[in-house]
Amino acid sequence: MPSTATIPKAVFWIFLVIGQVLTAQVPLTLPPASASGDRCDLSGQWNLDEQPATNVTGNLVFETANSLLQHWANTRYRNGHTIVPGTIPVGTILYHGAIMGPHIPTALDWVATEPDHSMLFCMGEVKSGCLHVTFVVTRPMKVLYFDGSSAALFSEGSMDTQDLLAWSEMKPEWALNEYQRIEDLCKWGQKYGLNGFVRMQMNFEMMICNFTSHMEVVSSLNLETLHLKLDNGQPTEDLNTMHSTFELMNSASWREAYPGETQVILDYSGLVSFYDTALVPSLAPRRVGLERWDHRVAGISSEDMERVKDRLAQLIDTPAVWM
Ligand SMILES: *[C@@H]1O[C@H](CO)[C@@H](O)[C@H](O)[C@H]1NC(C)=O
Ligand SMILES: *[C@@H]1O[C@H](CO)[C@@H](O)[C@H](O)[C@H]1NC(C)=O
Repeated sequence: MPSTATIPKAVFWIFLVIGQVLTAQVPLTLPPASASGDRCDLSGQWNLDEQPATNVTGNLVFETANSLLQHWANTRYRNGHTIVPGTIPVGTILYHGAIMGPHIPTALDWVATEPDHSMLFCMGEVKSGCLHVTFVVTRPMKVLYFDGSSAALFSEGSMDTQDLLAWSEMKPEWALNEYQRIEDLCKWGQKYGLNGFVRMQMNFEMMICNFTSHMEVVSSLNLETLHLKLDNGQPTEDLNTMHSTFELMNSASWREAYPGETQVILDYSGLVSFYDTALVPSLAPRRVGLERWDHRVAGISSEDMERVKDRLAQLIDTPAVWM
């Protein structure tokens, strides 16, 4: 605590400093408004109040590319419109909580990029506890990243881009059918040597197509089960459950903004955007009058769907795309 005598002195100095800063500041003058109303007038000044022209999507392509692997942007706009090839480098640590009994997966299954996430899937009887496994990547893994909240199992658009690759049609009634989805995505990806898929829900996660080909077990722990109380797969207000959910959200908060999830190395040269109006013209009329969060990939024509799949196949067949 400062003594009462020093307070008026401190206040005096603060006012003096603020006064000096204020007098040192020169107000910015606005450039004269351009008569033509152009977005960029002849003096090179941008008019940032101008809305993008109707139907243009360049701003959306740019904004999604600028938001990839960042948690908040992809929570706000959860219907993904971008698929990007990426690599998971050797040495990356990944986590798996065994949901179906104490077995280390050998075929396809899921991993999280944070243990706070995988712990929610560490389930078992109170007596036997649960199995939590840590893996290290031993060979570079080829993955595809679906942007948006692509692991939020909703039927309103967050799974559209995966449905397209797995089933060549949108299947909202299969939103919760994760086993069918991972099987069919891996089957599609096998043709191109893909090892997995990166998605996001409360944090980032990966679908791994073969647990023994590119990873080794670092540790396998028999832990006390978390006694989570779920209702329809969703966490309840039970205190213990809320605590674990909070830990997960806290770990995701490290990934909210740039640089986001840095364990996935994306190749931006292979980015495929559903806002690309030359690649996917059929979606343009569907977006007219809709707010951005209502944009969907559902409604794409079958010709455009084939074009996207051909483009992806070409890209991921190119060795240069992979590190
Ligand atoms: C998984 O990878 C291992 C090691 O490369 C291989 O022996 C095995 O056949 C693969 N499994 C499947 C289902 O492809
Ligand atoms: C926007 O796109 C819709 C559907 O493709 C079209 O009918 C409309 O004329 C377009 N508007 C402008 C200003 O280009």
